[in-house]
Amino acid sequence: MKLFATVASFLALTCSAAESAAACNDRLSNYNTSSDLGISTSFCSVLKPTAVYNGSISKNTGFIKLRIANGAAGQTGLIKALADAYIKDRVKGGELPFEVAWYKSDTTKAIEFLQTGEVDVAITYNEVAESIAIDQSIAESPSYFAFRENLLLVGPPSNPANLSKSDNIFSLFSAIYNAAEGPTTVPPVRFLSRYDKSIINIKETFLWATLGQVPWATAYSTWYHQYISIAVPALNAAIKLDEYTITDRATLLSLSTHMQNQTVIYKVGSDNTTDPLMISAHLLIGKNACNAAEAAKFASWLVSTKGQDIVIGFKKKGEKLYTGAPVKE
Ligand SMILES: *[C@@H]1O[C@H](CO)[C@@H](O)[C@H](O)[C@H]1NC(C)=O
Ligand SMILES: *[C@@H]1O[C@H](CO)[C@@H](O)[C@H](O)[C@H]1NC(C)=O
Ligand SMILES: *[C@@H]1O[C@H](CO)[C@@H](O)[C@H](O)[C@H]1NC(C)=O
Ligand SMILES: *[C@@H]1O[C@H](CO)[C@@H](O)[C@H](O)[C@H]1NC(C)=O
Ligand SMILES: *[C@@H]1O[C@H](CO)[C@@H](O)[C@H](O)[C@H]1NC(C)=O
Repeated sequence: MKLFATVASFLALTCSAAESAAACNDRLSNYNTSSDLGISTSFCSVLKPTAVYNGSISKNTGFIKLRIANGAAGQTGLIKALADAYIKDRVKGGELPFEVAWYKSDTTKAIEFLQTGEVDVAITYNEVAESIAIDQSIAESPSYFAFRENLLLVGPPSNPANLSKSDNIFSLFSAIYNAAEGPTTVPPVRFLSRYDKSIINIKETFLWATLGQVPWATAYSTWYHQYISIAVPALNAAIKLDEYTITDRATLLSLSTHMQNQTVIYKVGSDNTTDPLMISAHLLIGKNACNAAEAAKFASWLVSTKGQDIVIGFKKKGEKLYTGAPVKE
């Protein structure tokens, strides 16, 4: 009966391009979404998703019920792994097959997507921006701690800044600064900045600013190489140019072993949430989510053992990339 009703009212259960996401959400909330078999949120989006995941379920309906905005974890494949496992769990629990879409976006863009209703949830990397989004009623309270990731400081094996692996990250950045500003070395001491507003770019600029240095300000420091690019080409460039840079393990593992062997890891971030080389990822649910019920279900699943097991078990070339959310005391 429900299935028939859903099929018959298919159009009523989707958002039209002409109506705002908020209006659509209000309208859809009048339906019984505990069995919202066919509600597709794909009509709530203006843009095409970067990728659509179906849980490898052969008879998938093609309905997108959840749209996730994220940057780096989409590129590593973690968002796909989470989406596929979530779909499978929901279907095992009696839900009809559905799909999950990924929209590639940095934290700023992801919050914009929440505001316009382009996506239902966002996995972002900046706690202050997340609190502001909640304060401004762009996202629901609370946010959900999704996972942690450790960043790496890498550099040339010749180590012209004489970095000592036992130093803390602030001392290492200070050593790079002093060596870069000091007498000429071979190769010269240079630092490559992604300069693309990615979380890695923000972490790196935070480290410089914490030391009271702003190498991108006038008079611009020639050793501070602003290489506007995405992760893999940026790391390749840093290696070829004998430069220090901040990267993540997934990016490093994406390179050929030949390239990987030409760089040295001088520091690995810890799991301590105060460590500047650690990224905390939180999930936000948009106030304008087209399918708020599904968004809430996904949030609960993500922080449950089921979701966290996917995070912890996720590997690239045999190496784990992520740590789960800290266990609440
Ligand atoms: C929604 O559907 C379920 C199962 O059919 C039913 O138990 C519940 O009462 C319905 N809720 C509303 C608000 O109609
Ligand atoms: C599910 O996704 C996979 C990988 O993107 C694709 O190869 C497959 O055709 C899809 N299956 C269905 C039923 O859409
Ligand atoms: C690094 O150490 C070498 C050998 O001790 C020394 O010659 C060089 O000046 C040092 N470089 C810097 C930047 O301190
Ligand atoms: C890279 O280094 C590893 C370990 O030191 C070594 O086994 C491997 O052969 C090296 N690969 C290349 C391409 O140099
Ligand atoms: C995390 O780091 C801070 C600052 O270094 C320290 O005070 C705190 O004890 C650390 N927490 C844990 C759990 O190690």
